[in-house]
Amino acid sequence: MRSPFRYTRLLAAFSLAIYGCFTQIAAAEDSSLIAGKSIFDRLCIYCHGSKGEGDGPAGLLSGVDTGDLSNQAYMSKLSDQELYDRIAWGQEKFPYLQMPGWRSSLKEQEIRAVINYVRSLAVDKGPLTTPSPKEREKKFRDDPLERGRVHYLHYCSGCHGKSGDGDGEGGKNLATKPAALSDPALAATITPASIDAYLTTNSGRGGGRNMPVFEDGFRDKIKDITLYIKTLAK
Ligand code: HEC
Ligand code: HEC
Repeated sequence: MRSPFRYTRLLAAFSLAIYGCFTQIAAAEDSSLIAGKSIFDRLCIYCHGSKGEGDGPAGLLSGVDTGDLSNQAYMSKLSDQELYDRIAWGQEKFPYLQMPGWRSSLKEQEIRAVINYVRSLAVDKGPLTTPSPKEREKKFRDDPLERGRVHYLHYCSGCHGKSGDGDGEGGKNLATKPAALSDPALAATITPASIDAYLTTNSGRGGGRNMPVFEDGFRDKIKDITLYIKTLAK
């Protein structure tokens, strides 16, 4: 005959096992969050800010918009795998994001941990009022002006300012003042060839002035950037 006592003991042992399982999962969850936070604070905070709101000092200095990783409505449009790919590859595969990829500095498990942590920063900021990641990706692919905007922010705005007024943080301590590209008289003279020539002869490569030297693949972007600069004229 089955004694109720044995049954209770069995039940107790069973619930203990389940409880153990849960606490183990919770502990794993905790240690992944802790690992994720330490990675975020070491590698990401400088651009994204301590709460992921996009107010890190690098964004200010470079003029690049680092988005808001705490916006739940935006982030919920990206699955864990989509986040993984974006963090691992950055602009190499997702050029609408002006962010380097992290796959050579972080292991797969570390990327998963930092995703966990980023998810924990989510705050309900109401419904999405800006384009979703996929809409942005498509716009970047199809619209030269959008490409010009993103590249301008990435390569030029740090010195020439977000609106082209020559007031970027990065230009403040240079010996020569970054030109106000929004000056209509100057904007009218700007063509892809003139920018190309200026970069070749007046940058550190040629004239030794304060325009930086850009990487080799940069020339392909000049046309789109020129288009965008024209829209800054006022
Ligand atoms: C050099 C600056 C910089 C650093 C450092 C940086 N990011 Fe970014 N990140 C950006 C920029 C710029 C974007 C694009 C923001 C935008 O256009 O909305 C971005 C976008 C993202 C996105 C959003 C992807 C999307 O589709 O909107 C995620 C997620 C992200 N970063 C995670 C990270 C993580 C995790 C780290 C640290 C391992 C990190 N970032 C470090 C600059 C940076
Ligand atoms: C590190 C700061 C810096 C960055 C980044 C930068 N510039 Fe400049 N730029 C300058 C400065 C400073 C000048 C003024 C002359 C000089 O010192 O070369 C200048 C001048 C210019 C001029 C010449 C205007 C004239 O008077 O004819 C153009 C055009 C220009 N920049 C375009 C760009 C474009 C396009 C980008 C992005 C691809 C860019 N710059 C990025 C600092 C910068």
